[in-house]
Formats: sequence, C-alpha cells, structure tokens
Amino acid sequence: MVGIDFGKPLFTREEIQRKIQEIGSRVSTDYADKDLIAVGVLKGALFFMSDLLRSLRISVRMDFIHCTSSATKGKDGNPVRMLCDMKEDIKDKHVLLIEDIMDSGVTIDYLKKMLLARGPASLKVCVLLDKSDRRQVPIEADYAGFRIPNKYVVGYGLDYNELYRNLRFVG
Ligand code: IMP
Ligand code: MG
Repeated sequence: MVGIDFGKPLFTREEIQRKIQEIGSRVSTDYADKDLIAVGVLKGALFFMSDLLRSLRISVRMDFIHCTSSATKGKDGNPVRMLCDMKEDIKDKHVLLIEDIMDSGVTIDYLKKMLLARGPASLKVCVLLDKSDRRQVPIEADYAGFRIPNKYVVGYGLDYNELYRNLRFVG
C-alpha cells in the first residue's frame, strides 16, 4: 500500500481518539458497579475496541466473535456467517457488543438476537461509525461515535478487500 492518497481524512486520528475518550467515559459511568464483558466483532472492531477498552476506568473482560456479513443470505438463510464464536459464558452477565460500523444494521441485529438467546443480564451495542440513513432493520446503537453519510469508508479497522484496516484515520 504505497503512495495511497485518501485526501482529507473524514476523521483524523485525534478526532477518533477524542471521541473514544467520550464514549469510554460514558461506558465507565454506566457500568461502574457491573461486571462487564466486551465482545468485539472481528476483524473491523479490533483497533476501536483496543483503544476503547484502554480508555475505561472500570475492569472489563473481553471476548471476540469473528463473522462476515454478506449482502445476500447464505445457504442456511443467515445474513451473517459465523467464523468463530466467543468463548465466555454470558448468562446473567452484562455484555457490550463492539463493532466498527452499523450500516444496514443486519449484522448487529443478527448478533444481538444470537447473544440475547444466551440470557445475558443486559446487552448493549457500541459502534464507532453509524450510517443511519442505510438502515434496513429498526435498530440503533446504544453508543455511537460518529454519524456518517452513505459513503464507503476505510481505515481504523474498516477495510476495502481486506486492505486499509491499519490506517490510523478514517478516510
Ligand atoms: P451491516 O450489516 O449492513 O450493518 O454491515 C455491517 C458491516 O458491513 C460492517 O461490520 C462492515 O464490515 C461492513 N461495512 C459497512 N459499511 C462499510 C464501509 O463504509 N466501509 C467498510 N466496511 C463497511
Ligand atoms: Mg465488520
């Protein structure tokens, strides 16, 4: 990835870090007296989750789900293909699902239903980016960093054909 020019970043490294401090502060307050398990959706949530959890003032467990979302439903009728499920038992635990972006909402809607069936004490959703105009299912994130228009973005975990995830900004 040499010589790539994304022009002006949509969100700079500093803007992203400031926003994460804000969200981290809210999460720390909201879960001050609760046992929290943060569940990151790989691969996109990797950097966001890493920075967000390190901004918290409370102790937290972490786990991961690896899945891919397809525009068309797979053979099994699922819009989301699970590549690897989480390890922790979430029954009666407070769960925060962390994703890079909510677009149509289909992925998070699917994961929420899957996790709710396991009987957590609570389940909230945290995303860095929110393309709210694109929603196909009625769902909102409990914590959302930035609302963005319907443009394809990369960087800070988000990819285009598996590239550009390692950019420190969103472009
Ligand atoms: P949803 O199920 O439509 O909400 O899609 C969510 C998934 O689509 C995210 O986890 C991303 O992996 C991917 N996605 C949606 N919009 C973008 C984008 O602008 N850039 C990179 N990935 C995106
Ligand atoms: Mg993703």
